[in-house]
Amino acid sequence: MKKILVTGGAGYIGSHCVVELVKSGFQPIIIDDFSNASPATLQNVFDLCGREIPVITGDCSDEVLLRTVFKAHEFEGVIHFAAFKAVGESVEHPIKYYQNNLNGVLSVVKMMEEFGVQKLVFSSSCTVYGTPTGSVKVTEETPLGVPNSPYGWTKLMAEQIIKDVAKNGKIKAVLLRYFNPIGAHESGKIGELPVGVPNNIVPYMTQTAAGIREQLTVFGSDYQTTDGTCLRDFIHVTDLAIAHIAAINLELDKEIEIINIGTGKGTSVLELISAFEEVTGKSLNWKFGPRRAGDVEAIFAEVEKAHKILNWSAKRGVKKAIEDSWRWEQYRLKHEVV
Ligand code: WQD
Repeated sequence: MKKILVTGGAGYIGSHCVVELVKSGFQPIIIDDFSNASPATLQNVFDLCGREIPVITGDCSDEVLLRTVFKAHEFEGVIHFAAFKAVGESVEHPIKYYQNNLNGVLSVVKMMEEFGVQKLVFSSSCTVYGTPTGSVKVTEETPLGVPNSPYGWTKLMAEQIIKDVAKNGKIKAVLLRYFNPIGAHESGKIGELPVGVPNNIVPYMTQTAAGIREQLTVFGSDYQTTDGTCLRDFIHVTDLAIAHIAAINLELDKEIEIINIGTGKGTSVLELISAFEEVTGKSLNWKFGPRRAGDVEAIFAEVEKAHKILNWSAKRGVKKAIEDSWRWEQYRLKHEVV
């Protein structure tokens, strides 16, 4: 079986990707420092894979460690997820974000060059577009914006590092620009596991509905959108994971391929709340609050290129994602997964 190194493979998106890699006949090898993932969910990942997956506990910024991993395995490719990703936290702790996220990608591409591993799939983000100046439906050619946070800057800088390294001809990379990953595996056995108070809206909603949080605050009601709340492209994490399988299988005829991964549809915060209440049958306790610094008013993806290049499109909608997130939240509480 073809081996794929999955950095951050115990995390939210990484773990869903590991499950899909196994389903597609690959042998994932996980490296994760568990700074934003819980070993408690690994057994569930193995259950869903039907077998144990090799896991190296450690930081992919550690070149000595990473070199031993590359020596031990002949990789077909690398999927690089490992990075800190909380927008708000990155504003408070920029050094931590630049150090971790940039040293991680530098170490990965250095080892790939050293060991002749050519294929890289990189977890990038729509945050590199900043606040869209033209259409809020962004294509891969939309000019890169000014990211609204150090987190966003690390994604933009990492893309540039990969582009520059790829010019040496030893690495070919697919940069996947995610929009808003939400949802959980339909089994309800793995999902998003925020550390502390959730930054992202869906885990905050499910924790509010579960009584863990008192009330959801909707950040801003005076945006220039149909209902005054922000617009996002919420994509089911399983659809997102499947896009990575298409990307790792892509025969690249050029150094870099940049692809938006979203549904191509915009959903407002209020529409998301309505969908949540419809799907779960629960009335969500929420209120309007002030805008959150750094929030983009509206952004969603033009996904034509993903369909054309990867033969991929999102199959699951927002309601399915909410249904799966709610199932995971109830599983998590019942089995005290923290
Ligand atoms: C979505 C909308 C909030 C919480 C970030 C990163 C992105 C990706 C996903 C990694 C916004 C509103 C939120 C709450 C709210 N990260 N909201 N109350 O900021 O769009 O994207 O996370 O892959 O790269 O930038 O996601 O879920 O935090 O916010 O009203 O308690 O929900 O204002 O409009 P965001 P989010």
